[in-house]
Amino acid sequence: MLKLFKRKNKDIFDRLDTNNLPKHIGIIMDGNGRWAKKRGLPRSAGHRMGAKVLEQITRDAGHLGIKFLTVYAFSTENWVRPKDEVDALMKLMTEYLDDYRRLIGDDDIRIRIIGSKEGLSEEILQKIDVVENATKDNRAITLNIALNYGGRDEIVQSVRKIGHMIKSGDIDPDLIDEKLISENLYTNYMPDPDFIIRPSGEMRLSNFLIWQSAYSEFWYSDINWPDFTRNDLIRSIVDFQKRNRRFGGV
Ligand code: FPP
Repeated sequence: MLKLFKRKNKDIFDRLDTNNLPKHIGIIMDGNGRWAKKRGLPRSAGHRMGAKVLEQITRDAGHLGIKFLTVYAFSTENWVRPKDEVDALMKLMTEYLDDYRRLIGDDDIRIRIIGSKEGLSEEILQKIDVVENATKDNRAITLNIALNYGGRDEIVQSVRKIGHMIKSGDIDPDLIDEKLISENLYTNYMPDPDFIIRPSGEMRLSNFLIWQSAYSEFWYSDINWPDFTRNDLIRSIVDFQKRNRRFGGV
């Protein structure tokens, strides 16, 4: 599939440097509601289409050689949305987890869910366990789905864990450093995202990977997430590769 695309879109592929790919891409899958509204559909239809697009983009990212993809599916702040929308998103998540074998297909995709477990149903928590266990040895790409995730909440959890370690005498407070805080975040098994994509025209982080994105490059676009294509993914990576990343240096 990707081979055919490569042949048809030679111009853009030729500009892609496969030796300089982002190691970890974060995506804020925004614009589902607007996509649905434009078509006179309920917002949940936008989320359903967004989930389909996620499936394709995960495969494409894996085939390109991206090792980690983290997507924002539901934030700790999204609970205030109308109940029918929250229910629709949770139902979609349940179906996604139930269907993980089909989603993965022949691809070597590991699925992890990151975020707070508080407030999630027992049913979803059990399904998360099943999917994480079943895919734990897959290595081509790790798809982290941020569900009930908030960056500030994640930092609070990390600090709380470290507080307990101090209380039990396992570490000295003077040993607290950036590495220790990172090691106690949900993302402790992966590099920080070097590239964050936000479609739909918004230009903010919205509490997504706020600690980890200290040096991330950003890419914004007016495309709503359900319209995001493989071509957009490649275009964004080509743009990333033009950036001069200085990490505070000159
Ligand atoms: C933001 O768009 C999107 C969300 C809050 C949900 C994202 C979820 C998905 C794409 C579904 C993924 C599902 C699974 C099962 C992994 P918005 O609703 O805020 O859109 P708007 O800004 O246009 O209103």
